[in-house]
Amino acid sequence: MAYENILVERDPAISTITVNRPKALNALNSHTLRELTQAVRECADSRVIILTGAGERAFVAGADIAEMSKMTVVQAKEMARLGQRSTSALEDLPIPVIAAVNGFALGGGMELVMACDLAIASEKARFGQPEINLGIIPGFGGTQRLARRVGAPRARQMIYGGDMIDAETARQWGLVNRVVKPEDLLAEARKLAATLATKPPVALAQAKLVIQHGLDVDLENGLRLEAEAFAVTFSTEDRTEGMAAFLNKRPAKFAGR
Ligand code: CAA
Repeated sequence: MAYENILVERDPAISTITVNRPKALNALNSHTLRELTQAVRECADSRVIILTGAGERAFVAGADIAEMSKMTVVQAKEMARLGQRSTSALEDLPIPVIAAVNGFALGGGMELVMACDLAIASEKARFGQPEINLGIIPGFGGTQRLARRVGAPRARQMIYGGDMIDAETARQWGLVNRVVKPEDLLAEARKLAATLATKPPVALAQAKLVIQHGLDVDLENGLRLEAEAFAVTFSTEDRTEGMAAFLNKRPAKFAGR
């Protein structure tokens, strides 16, 4: 499908989705959000998705402030729900999504990163929830995911203060997994994606599901979820192959079944 503000390189193994409005630092207007959700769903049959931003400067600099400046209260709520649908679409996928954060990841941009499974950041990347400086609060999940991810004190610091943090601080806080040189970013993201694409997909999907849903339930229920998902992996050919390969001291060849 052709998109106006999103580039999609679809591939059975690794698909790449690029938010492509570099003139506006890839800001998310409502049209782009709709396209992004569609693109994410379109790539759901790949093994791994890489999400990045076009151009040298930004991953995504947030929701589109020019569009939001004209919104009514009702439209603002719809905008938040649109953004939340995009982040939920990423989280609901049965495959891992890697954010390749090439520059500013602000507001809705940082909220997208937090909905991805893993993130690799360029040394140039900057992260922030600057909504407070516009007289608003994060609306694409930031108040919820940031506090869960980095704890309430750091979430308050970012959301009340609106200041940016650099890539290394984001790594120390657990918002990104690795920081690499800007010129290595996409190659490193692809290398990680290629490794994940060789893993047994049902086991990956079950791991993603249990980590995701386990965060929102108490430990006892999380452990029950884990036991159910653990059992599901035993129905796969890949489980038989993985264990046989180990016992026969040879590398496993996963067929994805
Ligand atoms: N919305 C719309 N346009 C944006 C934008 C945004 N979020 N961010 C940048 N742009 C546009 C600028 O208006 C500018 O356009 P023009 O060239 O037509 O004037 C262009 O992108 C380049 O930006 P700057 O000239 O501002 O570049 P800079 O280097 O001086 O500053 C920046 C870079 C610090 C990222 C700055 O652009 C900035 O602060 N952007 C806004 C960041 C922000 O507040 N994000 C949160 C948005 S609210 C949100 O996301 C709510 C939510 O949770 C859903």
